[in-house]
Amino acid sequence: MTYFETQHLTKNFGGLTAVNDLSFAVHQGEIFGLIGPNGSGKTTVFNLITGFYPITSGAIVYRGGTIHGLPTWKICKQGIGRTFQVVKPLRRMTVLDNVVTSAFNRSSSKAEAVAKALEVLDFCGLRTRQDQPAKGLTIGDRKRLEIARALATGPDLLLLDETMAGLTPQEQAEGVELIRKIRDSGITVIIVEHIMHVIMNLCDRILCINYGQEIAAGAPLEVANNQAVIEAYLGKE
Ligand SMILES: Nc1ncnc2c1ncn2[C@@H]1O[C@H](COP(=O)(O)OP(=O)(O)OP(=O)(O)O)[C@@H](O)[C@H]1O
Ligand SMILES: [Mg+2]
Repeated sequence: MTYFETQHLTKNFGGLTAVNDLSFAVHQGEIFGLIGPNGSGKTTVFNLITGFYPITSGAIVYRGGTIHGLPTWKICKQGIGRTFQVVKPLRRMTVLDNVVTSAFNRSSSKAEAVAKALEVLDFCGLRTRQDQPAKGLTIGDRKRLEIARALATGPDLLLLDETMAGLTPQEQAEGVELIRKIRDSGITVIIVEHIMHVIMNLCDRILCINYGQEIAAGAPLEVANNQAVIEAYLGKE
Protein backbone atom coordinates (compact mmCIF):
# COMPACT_ATOMS: atom_id res chain seq x y z
CA MET A 1 0.00 0.00 0.00
CA THR A 2 1.29 3.45 -0.89
CA TYR A 3 1.63 5.47 2.30
CA PHE A 4 0.64 8.81 0.79
CA GLU A 5 -0.11 9.97 -2.74
CA THR A 6 -1.78 12.61 -4.81
CA GLN A 7 -3.43 11.51 -8.06
CA HIS A 8 -3.87 14.08 -10.82
CA LEU A 9 -4.32 16.73 -8.15
CA THR A 10 -5.61 20.01 -9.61
CA LYS A 11 -6.59 23.33 -8.04
CA ASN A 12 -8.03 26.29 -9.92
CA PHE A 13 -8.40 29.73 -8.38
CA GLY A 14 -10.74 31.32 -10.91
CA GLY A 15 -8.77 31.33 -14.16
CA LEU A 16 -5.46 30.45 -12.47
CA THR A 17 -4.44 26.79 -12.23
CA ALA A 18 -2.20 26.76 -9.14
CA VAL A 19 -1.81 22.96 -9.04
CA ASN A 20 -2.05 21.17 -12.34
CA ASP A 21 -2.50 17.38 -12.71
CA LEU A 22 0.10 16.68 -10.03
CA SER A 23 0.73 13.05 -9.06
CA PHE A 24 3.36 12.04 -6.52
CA ALA A 25 3.85 9.38 -3.86
CA VAL A 26 5.61 9.56 -0.50
CA HIS A 27 6.94 6.47 1.27
CA GLN A 28 6.53 5.99 4.98
CA GLY A 29 9.61 7.12 6.92
CA GLU A 30 11.19 9.31 4.25
CA ILE A 31 11.92 13.02 4.07
CA PHE A 32 10.39 14.15 0.80
CA GLY A 33 11.29 17.57 -0.61
CA LEU A 34 8.84 19.72 -2.58
CA ILE A 35 10.64 22.56 -4.34
CA GLY A 36 9.89 25.10 -7.04
CA PRO A 37 10.18 28.84 -7.72
CA ASN A 38 8.02 31.44 -5.92
CA GLY A 39 4.35 31.03 -6.78
CA SER A 40 4.80 27.53 -8.23
CA GLY A 41 2.08 26.04 -6.03
CA LYS A 42 3.93 24.44 -3.10
CA THR A 43 1.90 26.01 -0.29
CA THR A 44 -1.28 25.36 -2.25
CA VAL A 45 -0.38 21.64 -2.34
CA PHE A 46 -0.14 21.73 1.49
CA ASN A 47 -3.43 23.61 1.72
CA LEU A 48 -5.10 20.94 -0.41
CA ILE A 49 -3.60 18.02 1.55
CA THR A 50 -4.73 19.50 4.86
CA GLY A 51 -8.20 20.45 3.64
CA PHE A 52 -7.76 24.23 3.91
CA TYR A 53 -8.93 24.47 0.31
CA PRO A 54 -11.20 22.06 -1.53
CA ILE A 55 -9.51 20.35 -4.47
CA THR A 56 -10.80 21.05 -7.99
CA SER A 57 -10.14 17.50 -9.22
CA GLY A 58 -7.96 14.46 -8.64
CA ALA A 59 -7.49 12.60 -5.38
CA ILE A 60 -5.41 12.60 -2.19
CA VAL A 61 -4.85 9.16 -0.66
CA TYR A 62 -3.38 8.61 2.81
CA ARG A 63 -2.84 5.14 4.27
CA GLY A 64 -5.22 3.56 1.79
CA GLY A 65 -8.13 6.00 2.13
CA THR A 66 -9.04 9.20 0.30
CA ILE A 67 -8.88 12.27 2.52
CA HIS A 68 -9.86 15.07 0.14
CA GLY A 69 -13.23 16.50 1.11
CA LEU A 70 -12.66 15.90 4.83
CA PRO A 71 -12.58 18.93 7.16
CA THR A 72 -9.17 20.11 8.38
CA TRP A 73 -9.68 18.80 11.92
CA LYS A 74 -10.46 15.28 10.72
CA ILE A 75 -7.34 15.25 8.56
CA CYS A 76 -5.35 16.40 11.59
CA LYS A 77 -6.93 13.62 13.71
CA GLN A 78 -5.97 11.11 11.03
CA GLY A 79 -2.35 12.12 11.61
CA ILE A 80 -1.38 14.84 9.17
CA GLY A 81 0.22 17.88 10.82
CA ARG A 82 1.51 21.06 9.21
CA THR A 83 3.34 24.28 9.81
CA PHE A 84 2.43 27.57 8.16
CA GLN A 85 4.82 29.53 5.96
CA VAL A 86 3.73 32.67 7.81
CA VAL A 87 3.86 31.37 11.39
CA LYS A 88 0.62 31.60 13.33
CA PRO A 89 1.29 31.47 17.06
CA LEU A 90 -1.40 32.46 19.54
CA ARG A 91 0.56 35.62 20.24
CA ARG A 92 -0.54 36.54 23.73
CA MET A 93 -0.42 33.02 25.07
CA THR A 94 2.75 31.49 26.50
CA VAL A 95 4.87 29.11 24.49
CA LEU A 96 3.65 26.25 26.68
CA ASP A 97 -0.03 27.12 26.26
CA ASN A 98 0.42 27.37 22.48
CA VAL A 99 1.67 23.80 22.44
CA VAL A 100 -0.90 22.56 24.99
CA THR A 101 -3.64 23.80 22.65
CA SER A 102 -2.30 21.53 19.89
CA ALA A 103 -1.82 18.61 22.28
CA PHE A 104 -5.57 18.57 22.94
CA ASN A 105 -5.87 16.99 19.49
CA ARG A 106 -5.07 13.67 21.18
CA SER A 107 -5.43 14.34 24.90
CA SER A 108 -8.60 14.01 26.89
CA SER A 109 -7.39 15.88 29.98
CA LYS A 110 -5.45 19.07 30.65
CA ALA A 111 -2.80 17.13 32.60
CA GLU A 112 -2.23 14.79 29.65
CA ALA A 113 -2.05 17.71 27.21
CA VAL A 114 0.47 19.57 29.40
CA ALA A 115 2.63 16.45 29.75
CA LYS A 116 2.62 15.98 25.98
CA ALA A 117 3.41 19.67 25.41
CA LEU A 118 6.36 19.62 27.81
CA GLU A 119 7.73 16.53 26.09
CA VAL A 120 7.46 18.28 22.69
CA LEU A 121 9.08 21.48 24.03
CA ASP A 122 12.00 19.39 25.33
CA PHE A 123 12.27 17.66 21.97
CA CYS A 124 12.33 21.00 20.12
CA GLY A 125 14.75 22.71 22.51
CA LEU A 126 12.17 25.26 23.64
CA ARG A 127 11.73 24.27 27.26
CA THR A 128 13.57 27.35 28.58
CA ARG A 129 11.07 29.56 26.72
CA GLN A 130 7.94 27.86 27.99
CA ASP A 131 6.64 30.75 30.11
CA GLN A 132 7.28 33.54 27.60
CA PRO A 133 4.46 34.99 25.54
CA ALA A 134 4.79 33.77 21.95
CA LYS A 135 4.86 37.28 20.52
CA GLY A 136 8.23 38.03 22.19
CA LEU A 137 10.12 35.17 20.54
CA THR A 138 12.93 35.60 18.01
CA ILE A 139 12.16 34.44 14.47
CA GLY A 140 14.25 31.30 15.09
CA ASP A 141 12.24 30.38 18.19
CA ARG A 142 8.97 31.26 16.46
CA LYS A 143 9.78 28.79 13.69
CA ARG A 144 10.62 26.18 16.33
CA LEU A 145 7.35 26.88 18.11
CA GLU A 146 5.51 26.41 14.83
CA ILE A 147 7.10 22.96 14.50
CA ALA A 148 6.37 22.18 18.17
CA ARG A 149 2.70 23.06 17.71
CA ALA A 150 2.44 20.76 14.71
CA LEU A 151 4.27 17.94 16.55
CA ALA A 152 1.99 18.23 19.57
CA THR A 153 -1.01 17.25 17.43
CA GLY A 154 0.62 13.80 17.18
CA PRO A 155 1.20 13.57 13.42
CA ASP A 156 2.32 10.54 11.48
CA LEU A 157 2.95 12.73 8.42
CA LEU A 158 4.32 16.23 8.94
CA LEU A 159 4.24 19.00 6.30
CA LEU A 160 6.87 21.71 6.85
CA ASP A 161 6.46 24.92 4.84
CA GLU A 162 9.71 26.95 4.74
CA THR A 163 10.57 26.49 8.39
CA MET A 164 14.14 27.69 7.73
CA ALA A 165 13.35 30.97 5.98
CA GLY A 166 14.94 33.95 7.73
CA LEU A 167 17.14 31.84 10.02
CA THR A 168 20.87 32.34 10.60
CA PRO A 169 23.22 29.59 9.31
CA GLN A 170 23.58 28.32 12.90
CA GLU A 171 19.81 28.18 13.34
CA GLN A 172 19.46 26.45 9.97
CA ALA A 173 21.93 23.76 11.07
CA GLU A 174 19.91 23.25 14.27
CA GLY A 175 16.74 23.10 12.18
CA VAL A 176 18.23 20.37 9.99
CA GLU A 177 19.11 18.39 13.12
CA LEU A 178 15.60 18.83 14.49
CA ILE A 179 13.98 17.62 11.27
CA ARG A 180 16.27 14.55 11.21
CA LYS A 181 15.29 13.83 14.80
CA ILE A 182 11.62 14.12 13.86
CA ARG A 183 12.07 11.59 11.07
CA ASP A 184 14.07 9.28 13.34
CA SER A 185 11.16 9.35 15.80
CA GLY A 186 9.05 7.65 13.10
CA ILE A 187 7.33 10.62 11.46
CA THR A 188 7.27 10.94 7.67
CA VAL A 189 8.12 14.45 6.48
CA ILE A 190 7.27 16.50 3.39
CA ILE A 191 9.39 19.64 3.38
CA VAL A 192 8.97 22.77 1.26
CA GLU A 193 12.14 24.81 1.32
CA HIS A 194 14.06 27.27 -0.83
CA ILE A 195 17.41 26.87 0.93
CA MET A 196 19.11 24.31 -1.31
CA HIS A 197 21.75 23.03 1.11
CA VAL A 198 18.96 22.23 3.59
CA ILE A 199 17.04 20.32 0.93
CA MET A 200 20.14 18.51 -0.33
CA ASN A 201 21.17 17.55 3.20
CA LEU A 202 17.82 16.28 4.37
CA CYS A 203 15.79 14.81 1.55
CA ASP A 204 15.65 11.23 0.36
CA ARG A 205 13.79 12.30 -2.78
CA ILE A 206 12.71 15.59 -4.31
CA LEU A 207 9.88 16.75 -6.53
CA CYS A 208 10.30 20.05 -8.33
CA ILE A 209 7.21 21.84 -9.63
CA ASN A 210 6.61 24.95 -11.71
CA TYR A 211 3.21 26.45 -12.51
CA GLY A 212 1.73 23.64 -10.41
CA GLN A 213 3.16 20.90 -12.61
CA GLU A 214 5.95 18.39 -12.08
CA ILE A 215 9.14 19.31 -13.92
CA ALA A 216 11.52 16.81 -12.29
CA ALA A 217 11.52 14.14 -9.59
CA GLY A 218 14.14 11.83 -8.12
CA ALA A 219 17.27 11.80 -6.00
CA PRO A 220 18.38 15.26 -4.72
CA LEU A 221 21.51 15.55 -6.89
CA GLU A 222 19.68 14.33 -9.97
CA VAL A 223 16.94 16.95 -9.54
CA ALA A 224 19.34 19.79 -8.64
CA ASN A 225 21.30 19.15 -11.85
CA ASN A 226 18.23 18.80 -14.05
CA GLN A 227 18.25 21.41 -16.84
CA ALA A 228 14.52 22.18 -16.56
CA VAL A 229 14.92 22.78 -12.82
CA ILE A 230 17.87 25.11 -13.30
CA GLU A 231 15.93 27.06 -15.95
CA ALA A 232 12.84 27.30 -13.74
CA TYR A 233 14.92 28.91 -10.99
CA LEU A 234 17.38 30.94 -13.01
CA GLY A 235 15.80 31.43 -16.45
CA LYS A 236 17.17 30.23 -19.78
CA GLU A 237 20.07 32.70 -19.99
N1 LIG B 1 -6.29 31.71 -2.02
C1 LIG B 1 -5.82 32.01 -3.23
N2 LIG B 1 -6.56 32.67 -4.13
C2 LIG B 1 -6.07 32.97 -5.36
N3 LIG B 1 -4.85 32.63 -5.79
C3 LIG B 1 -4.07 31.98 -4.95
C4 LIG B 1 -4.49 31.63 -3.62
N4 LIG B 1 -3.47 30.96 -2.99
C5 LIG B 1 -2.47 30.91 -3.89
N5 LIG B 1 -2.82 31.51 -5.04
C6 LIG B 1 -1.98 31.61 -6.26
O1 LIG B 1 -1.56 30.30 -6.59
C7 LIG B 1 -0.22 30.31 -7.07
C8 LIG B 1 0.61 29.39 -6.21
O2 LIG B 1 0.78 29.99 -4.92
P1 LIG B 1 1.52 29.24 -3.73
O3 LIG B 1 1.38 30.11 -2.53
O4 LIG B 1 1.01 27.86 -3.62
O5 LIG B 1 3.01 29.24 -4.24
P2 LIG B 1 4.35 28.77 -3.50
O6 LIG B 1 5.04 27.79 -4.39
O7 LIG B 1 4.05 28.35 -2.12
O8 LIG B 1 5.20 30.13 -3.50
P3 LIG B 1 6.30 30.69 -2.44
O9 LIG B 1 7.58 29.94 -2.72
O10 LIG B 1 6.43 32.13 -2.80
O11 LIG B 1 5.77 30.47 -1.07
C9 LIG B 1 0.23 31.75 -7.04
O12 LIG B 1 0.03 32.29 -8.33
C10 LIG B 1 -0.70 32.39 -6.03
O13 LIG B 1 -0.87 33.76 -6.29
MG1 LIG C 1 4.62 29.02 -0.26
